[in-house]
Amino acid sequence: MSDRILVVDDEAAVLAICREFLQSRSYIVETASDAGKAMTLFEPGRFNLVITDINMPSISGVELARWIKEREPEIPVIILTGYGSYNLMHEALRGGVSDFIEKPFLLETLQRSVEKALEHREYMAERERLRIMRRLITSTERIAREVNESSLLQYLCECAATETRAQIISVMLPGGESGSGRLRIATIRGIPSEIEEAARQTEAELAQSVFETRAALRVEDINMETGLGARPRYSHYRTYSFMSIPLVIGSKAMGVLNLADKSDEKAFSRTDEEVAVILANHAAIALERVRLYDRLQLKIEETESMFYGVVQAISNAIDAKSPWTKGHSERVTIYAGMIGSALGLNERDMDTLTLAALLHDVGKIGTYDTLLDKPARLTDSEYEMVKLHPVKGENILKPIARLSHILPIIRHHHERYDGRGYPDGLSGQNIPFLARVLTVADTFDSMTSQRPYRDTPGRDKGISELHACAGTQFDPEIVEAFIRALRTQKTGVMDTV
Ligand SMILES: [Fe+2]
Repeated sequence: MSDRILVVDDEAAVLAICREFLQSRSYIVETASDAGKAMTLFEPGRFNLVITDINMPSISGVELARWIKEREPEIPVIILTGYGSYNLMHEALRGGVSDFIEKPFLLETLQRSVEKALEHREYMAERERLRIMRRLITSTERIAREVNESSLLQYLCECAATETRAQIISVMLPGGESGSGRLRIATIRGIPSEIEEAARQTEAELAQSVFETRAALRVEDINMETGLGARPRYSHYRTYSFMSIPLVIGSKAMGVLNLADKSDEKAFSRTDEEVAVILANHAAIALERVRLYDRLQLKIEETESMFYGVVQAISNAIDAKSPWTKGHSERVTIYAGMIGSALGLNERDMDTLTLAALLHDVGKIGTYDTLLDKPARLTDSEYEMVKLHPVKGENILKPIARLSHILPIIRHHHERYDGRGYPDGLSGQNIPFLARVLTVADTFDSMTSQRPYRDTPGRDKGISELHACAGTQFDPEIVEAFIRALRTQKTGVMDTV
């Protein structure tokens, strides 16, 4: 696109020559015959370069240059000077003027000066863009890392404030489950609480339109925004420039980022808008990801809760098989937990141990109730049938992939440390470690529970049995840890026995 140049001179001939020459070099040229007219034509972002005479009636070129620089510091200004204007030239230099051309001048001199000023401007603009891009990369990387919706929106506001110098920023999201309801403020900063409600109302209409059209809006004066009717002055803004940027992902609008009241009291520039769009686009993607993550997390929690509920129900069903096994799995789970804590097991092993303890006797579902309820000691053949329950339990749980890690514990919870247990006669360290833990917890409960054919032994009797069987039936280190735990911890079970 061609550069646009404003030429200001009170000599009509100079204006005509400059216009004709610069247009022949493909520039777009506008002219003003005095500084007052130039001020009327000028607005930030409209021109790429200003060339002004130094000596003009009422307002000098130096004053005009200063006035322009206050409104757009980056724009280059070339001063056309006459003989004897050296004092003014010094003043102009202090005001940031780019170059001087002494009248009368050659057109080649004008061309060189214009090219140099525009190249310098382009270089400075490129440098500024690179600086912004470097900061944006850091900001968008952090946006992408956010895992919480509230902190994501707050950080978006923080970045937008830094990059655009907006002092009042809000993010509005659609209400309602479907995400298509009226927008409501999700995060806001820069507005005192007493006028927050006013801001909600005043910005809502513009933001709603941006949300529905998914097209960014940038206006110099929010009060004059056409097509939206007469509006009251926005008393809480110091400036009236306003931007509303949709948070878009694909064709779906997720919300709107509103920016107002630029701290340097200028209007938001095209660059401000571009920066806000980049931030909003990244925030939209991050928002979608955060919500997906939350939904997934909820699903996982629901599934886990259902899973543990089913495990507990199966465990209750096992214990309900016989009045003599009532509460057995629950007590074994408590004892196993005590041993696990005393041994310093990690969370994963503790979870495995809990599941195995709750389900260890699931094979008894396939054992006749008459055997479990028998009010006397079992015969050898009856005992052989009961001994099948660890393998039956393993087979019952085999189809559940989520429980595959507890199958060895179920199968081997009746092995003995000396190798005289069942079903495989494993011994010592060949028995899976958590199965050895479960054996101690399971046998301790069996030793200390009520049975139809004997008196209920007390806790002390149970502890001496553990001592007696350490190294033969049980892993001695596990027995030692359990006895230590029984003596120091409340179990809630047998504490008063
Ligand atoms: Fe068992």
